[in-house]
Amino acid sequence: MQFLTQSADRFEKMINPKLVPYRTLSTGARMPAIGLGTFGSDQVSHKAVADAVQYAASIGYRHFDCASVYGNEDQIGRVFGSLFQNGLRRDDVWITSKLWNDKHGENDVIPSCEKSLADLRIDYLDLYLIHWPFPNHHPPGCDVSARNPHAVPYIHENYMRTWRRVEELVDCGLVRHIGTSNMTIPKMKLLLRDVRIKPVANEMELHPHFQQPDFFDYLMGNGIQPIGFSPIGSPARPNRDRTPGDTSPIEDPTIREIAKRLGVHPAVVCIKWAVQRGQVPIPFSTSQYNLFTNLLAVAGQPLTTLDMETIEKLDRNCRLIKGQVFLWKDNQTWEDLWDVNGVITPA
Ligand SMILES: NC(=O)c1ccc[n+]([C@@H]2O[C@H](COP(=O)([O-])OP(=O)(O)OC[C@H]3O[C@@H](n4cnc5c(N)ncnc54)[C@H](OP(=O)(O)O)[C@@H]3O)[C@@H](O)[C@H]2O)c1
Repeated sequence: MQFLTQSADRFEKMINPKLVPYRTLSTGARMPAIGLGTFGSDQVSHKAVADAVQYAASIGYRHFDCASVYGNEDQIGRVFGSLFQNGLRRDDVWITSKLWNDKHGENDVIPSCEKSLADLRIDYLDLYLIHWPFPNHHPPGCDVSARNPHAVPYIHENYMRTWRRVEELVDCGLVRHIGTSNMTIPKMKLLLRDVRIKPVANEMELHPHFQQPDFFDYLMGNGIQPIGFSPIGSPARPNRDRTPGDTSPIEDPTIREIAKRLGVHPAVVCIKWAVQRGQVPIPFSTSQYNLFTNLLAVAGQPLTTLDMETIEKLDRNCRLIKGQVFLWKDNQTWEDLWDVNGVITPA
C-alpha cells in the first residue's frame, strides 16, 4: 500500500478513496474502513453537518453514518442528491441509516426506512441498523433524567418481530445489509440463534479507554464487523452523556506522547489505532482541517506494533454513552442496560 505523508500540508487536496482501506464483510461487500459520523450532539446545526458531508465527500470520504433520529437526513440528502447528479456514483459510496426506537412496531419499520431513503435521496441503503435494542425513546435535546413512561426492558420476542421486518427490507431490495447497534454478547447470542438474515455489523462505542475486548472478539469470531462510534471519546457529547468519572482518550498522556512523536493531534492516534485494530471508526467533525487529518490518518503511515500494544493496555472500561434515558424502571443504574453480568438484565 502506498502511504501518504503524515502531515496535513496537503490540506485542501483530495485523498484518493482507493488509498483508504476497506473491510470485507461476511457477504463479500466492501465497507470503507472509516466513515463520517453525522450526529451533531444536539449542538451543531443540520446545515453545518450537511456542509461537513459535502466537504468530506469532496476530499475522499466514501462512508457516511446517518440516522433518522439525528434529524438531518433531509439536509444530508440534498447534498447526496447534488453529488450524484454531478457524477459521484452511488455504488462508490457506503451509506448507513438507523431505525429509531419509536419505530420498532411491525407496521412502522418499513415506512421508517422508506422515509430515510426519501430524505437521503437514495433508492437503497448499504446498511440499516436497529439503533438500540429497546423501543424506549427520548425527545431530542433531553437531559439525563428524561424517561419514557412506556419504557420496557429488552424483550427478545419483540426484538425479533422488529428484526423480521428489517430482514424484509433486504428481501425487497431497499437495504443491502442489516445490523445492530448498542447490543451486548447475551443479546447477540439470542439474535444469532434466531435470525434468517445475519447482521453484518454491530455499531458500538469503541475508543482506547473503552475497548470492549470480549464483545469485539465475539463479533469478529462470528463474522460481524464492529463499527466504532465516538472513536475520539466524543468530546462534545450532550450533557446527558457526561458523568464525573468519565475519562478522555485524547487527554491520555500516552496517547498524547505518541501524537507528539508523530506530529499529529491525539484524535488522529485514536483513529489510526481503531482502523489497525479492525473496527471501522466513524468520527464526527465539522472542521475542514480535522476532516482532512482524520481521513489522512487512515490512508497514511500506520502505528507501530509497539504503539498498538501500548494502547491496548490503556483500556479503562470507561463507557461514555451510557444511555440512562433508556432505563425502564426506578432505582436502576445505567449498567442495567448493558448486561454487565453476562446475562440479560431481567425485567
Ligand atoms: N449508534 C449509536 O448509538 C451512536 C452513538 C453515538 C454516536 N454515533 C455515531 O458516531 C459518530 C461519532 O461519535 P461522536 O460524535 O459521539 O464522537 P467523536 O467522533 O468521538 O467526537 C467528535 C468530536 O471530536 C472532534 N474532532 C474530530 N476530529 C478531530 C481532530 N482530528 N482533532 C480534534 N478534534 C476532533 C469534533 O470536533 P470538530 O467538529 O471541531 O472537529 C467533535 O467535537 C456520531 O456522529 C454518530 O454518527 C452512533
